[in-house]
Amino acid sequence: MRIAVYPGSFDPITNGHLDIIHRASRLYDHVVVGVLNNANKSPIFTADERKEMIDTVTKPIKNVSCDIFSGLLVDFAKQKNASVIIKGLRTVADFEYEFQMALLNKALNPEYETVFMMTDSKFSYISSSMVKEVAKYHGSLEGFVPSEISQKIMTKF
Ligand code: PNS
Repeated sequence: MRIAVYPGSFDPITNGHLDIIHRASRLYDHVVVGVLNNANKSPIFTADERKEMIDTVTKPIKNVSCDIFSGLLVDFAKQKNASVIIKGLRTVADFEYEFQMALLNKALNPEYETVFMMTDSKFSYISSSMVKEVAKYHGSLEGFVPSEISQKIMTKF
């Protein structure tokens, strides 16, 4: 059984993330979405809220689950019996940081392969930060986040 983890902050999950989850679910037997609970970052949504939104929008995809993690990603991958780490790439700006993280994760535990998936071009400009910026000024989130969670995001602002 090939298990992949797809880690991130998901503060909040966007249509770009969901597209990567859909596509990864067709490549692997199971995909575990890992929500980072990081004390160094100050997310808008609690880890539980972020997980709840992911659970809501991934419910129709049978081989996807979601868990909160803290600490090292390679330890979370081990705990989930995963062999692959999935990352989405939007622009070349993402590449440098992601490349560094992939090498670091490989140095920490060579058992895991990081697999990069290119974003669909229609989502290439969407990020969680951009979603928060639009929501802060009460702009429409249509097309940026799944419709089931847009109300929940707006009520936070
Ligand atoms: O959505 P993000 O914030 O870009 O996701 C970053 C994430 C969660 C993938 C990264 O910060 C991470 O893996 N953190 C866990 C801690 C860790 O393993 N650090 C070493 C590799 S960078």
